[in-house]
Amino acid sequence: MAAADLERFSNAEPEPRNLSLGGHVGFDSLPDQLVSKSVTQGFSFNILCVGETGIGKSTLMNTLFNTTFETEEASHHEECVRLRPQTYNLQESNVHLKLTIVDAVGFGDQINKDESYRPIVDYIDAQFENYLQEELKIRRSLFDYHDTRIHVCLYFITPTGHSLKSLDLVTMKKLDSKVNIIPIIAKADTISKSELHKFKIKIMGELVSNGVQIYQFPTDDEAVAEINAVMNAHLPFAVVGSTEEVKVGNKLVRARQYPWGVVQVENENHCDFVKLREMLIRVNMEDLREQTHSRHYELYRRCKLEEMGFQDSDGDSQPFSLQETYEAKRKEFLNELQRKEEEMRQMFVNKVKETELELKEKERELHEKFEHLKRIHQEEKRKVEEKRRELEEETSAFTRRKAAMEALQSQALHATSQQPLRKDKDRKKS
Ligand code: GTP
Ligand code: MG
Repeated sequence: MAAADLERFSNAEPEPRNLSLGGHVGFDSLPDQLVSKSVTQGFSFNILCVGETGIGKSTLMNTLFNTTFETEEASHHEECVRLRPQTYNLQESNVHLKLTIVDAVGFGDQINKDESYRPIVDYIDAQFENYLQEELKIRRSLFDYHDTRIHVCLYFITPTGHSLKSLDLVTMKKLDSKVNIIPIIAKADTISKSELHKFKIKIMGELVSNGVQIYQFPTDDEAVAEINAVMNAHLPFAVVGSTEEVKVGNKLVRARQYPWGVVQVENENHCDFVKLREMLIRVNMEDLREQTHSRHYELYRRCKLEEMGFQDSDGDSQPFSLQETYEAKRKEFLNELQRKEEEMRQMFVNKVKETELELKEKERELHEKFEHLKRIHQEEKRKVEEKRRELEEETSAFTRRKAAMEALQSQALHATSQQPLRKDKDRKKS
């Protein structure tokens, strides 16, 4: 035997032996124990409704669970898409269900719809992250943890009869690796039977050609394989919602009444509502929960742990050491911190230099301004000085002229006062 074969042989687990029992032991009650435990624990189921404002999300939820959930109408003026979760405790027979309905409020109402999918993706990831954090706790209590991970996304398609909008394709593509998507055509009573048939084919074609993976009802369990296979061919379900009750024959049924007739919600000739309810609640609810945990959450967990530096050891290499990973991550973190610190220091120095330069420039400008003002002031002063000199000259010229005038005036006065005296003298002489 080759050495490698020998080693493999020695490492192989021993085959379990089959024994026949001498009488009844009782471990055949294990499945019942599981059921009883699950029933005591209760279940949680979380539905995400994505669709335009007013497309009929709340009405469909009320119709599905045959109750009235209190919801407010959304406005068409939301700045961005907002996720609104609401949790309800429901009971049917002795089974308790914690149902969370999450509404994507304001979806499709923004002018720029490029980022409409992001809040939805972030919300789904945040629920995965919460669960992962609980799992990683030293004292975790997953038993009574309220699991808020989204188990199914009902994607409401507008019944245009044309094709999917690019917003629908982009959003579904972004969500398909994170959640089980069931596309449904809303308000299917507004579209004719032949148009609906073509519309369904068109939608499925578009989803396939764009590589969007929607949830397929599982066909590996014999008990439900047949019905699930048939239902897969009916996707996307065309649904009608109503909480109104209308009398048809002797019975009160949920329906929408129009002047030309009545659309019965639970009539399979009118719409696929019953198919949706059967598939979503009665047949595949557990599979949706299971797929969420084993496929979507597993993918998130794997990526996240790898990002954190965890890795599985393969057969040949050394076993994975948490201590080493921690040290390596710590070193990486410290290096990154140092790099950031250096970067910030450099930024600070540059900023100081820039400010210094700016201040110097300002100082130079101020100095120039001051010099300019000084020149203007000197010029003004010189002009005023000149003016003053001129004025002084004018004043002195005026004073001189005034003195001359006064002298002339006094001379004239003197002359006029001398004249009568002379006349008297002349008269006396004669
Ligand atoms: P927001 O939460 O405000 O985004 O609206 P919504 O998507 O929850 O729609 P809602 O259930 O409030 O329904 C909006 C309107 O559509 C109501 O007037 C409903 O009666 C009507 N409606 C709901 N379902 C259907 C349907 O299947 N067919 C038709 N024709 N109308 C429907
Ligand atoms: Mg609503």
